[in-house]
Amino acid sequence: MRPPRTRPELDGVPETALWTLYMRAWEARRPDRLLDDPKAVELVDALDYPFQERFGPDKWDSTVGEAIRTRVFDDEVRRFLRDHPDGTVVVLAEGLETQFWRVDNGRARWVSVDLAEVVGLRRRLLPESTRQRLIACSALDERWMDEVDRTRGVLITAKGLLQYFRPTEVHRLVATCAERFPGAAMVFEAPARWLSALMARGRTRTPAGVPVPPAYWGMDPKEARRLRAAHPGIVELVDLPLPAGRGRIYGRRLPWMARTPVVRNWKPVWIMRLRFGDGSGTDPARNPSG
Ligand SMILES: C[S@@+](CC[C@H](N)C(=O)[O-])C[C@H]1O[C@@H](n2cnc3c(N)ncnc32)[C@H](O)[C@@H]1O
Repeated sequence: MRPPRTRPELDGVPETALWTLYMRAWEARRPDRLLDDPKAVELVDALDYPFQERFGPDKWDSTVGEAIRTRVFDDEVRRFLRDHPDGTVVVLAEGLETQFWRVDNGRARWVSVDLAEVVGLRRRLLPESTRQRLIACSALDERWMDEVDRTRGVLITAKGLLQYFRPTEVHRLVATCAERFPGAAMVFEAPARWLSALMARGRTRTPAGVPVPPAYWGMDPKEARRLRAAHPGIVELVDLPLPAGRGRIYGRRLPWMARTPVVRNWKPVWIMRLRFGDGSGTDPARNPSG
């Protein structure tokens, strides 16, 4: 007999973790999938939740967007683990991401940070293994930083999180990471400033018409320069390209935007990598991007 399905009692920003999970699972079920993620499919099937009613069908190729953004993060984690096979990956706002199962090398240490209600649900659905650690704590609370082993390399990621913070909070978080994790890197995602302005006004909806929580922070070249200057320990800020996806938006329009000067600054989503100097003097030249 099938075990009873779990009802996630989430709302507000924590509920958006179900949306991104649903998009990855939707994409992973397709024969022409851009992301392999059987664990996400398993999770969606284990939940008692009206996914269709809340998030609707795949209008606007949103699952393609989620899949290719996820692939950029996966590639960054794999790259880090090639250089630091026993390193620590800290995933801020991990939600119900199943990235560990996509990229694990059998040696990495994994620290997942999210709000208590999400960590409680994750613990029930995806119990920790010996190399995984779940911390119920806001990403803005420095307590999680005390729990991270810095001896074998650290990569911090933040996908789908920073837009919910105020600009001063984002700058403070990045500056504190630079201070506390010299030599580490941080990969994050940000909506464009024009998109976060629409989200701040409550103008965005899921394809099912359900309002999306407001966003307060977004990226453009000016903001990239501000973020780069948030701490003297930041030695690099790189704009990571999205791979081409499928369909009109992700297969054609966004790849065209990405290669077109000026227009590229209007892309809807940015994924960037920050590097924090280790004080050894071997850091690359200070070279703001954006
Ligand atoms: C859009 S979901 C992204 C989840 C996951 N990163 C993904 O891509 O599927 C937003 C996540 O941010 C988490 N979150 C919101 N505020 C947070 C905070 N202050 N600290 C840590 N996590 C937070 C939510 O609980 C939720 O899991």
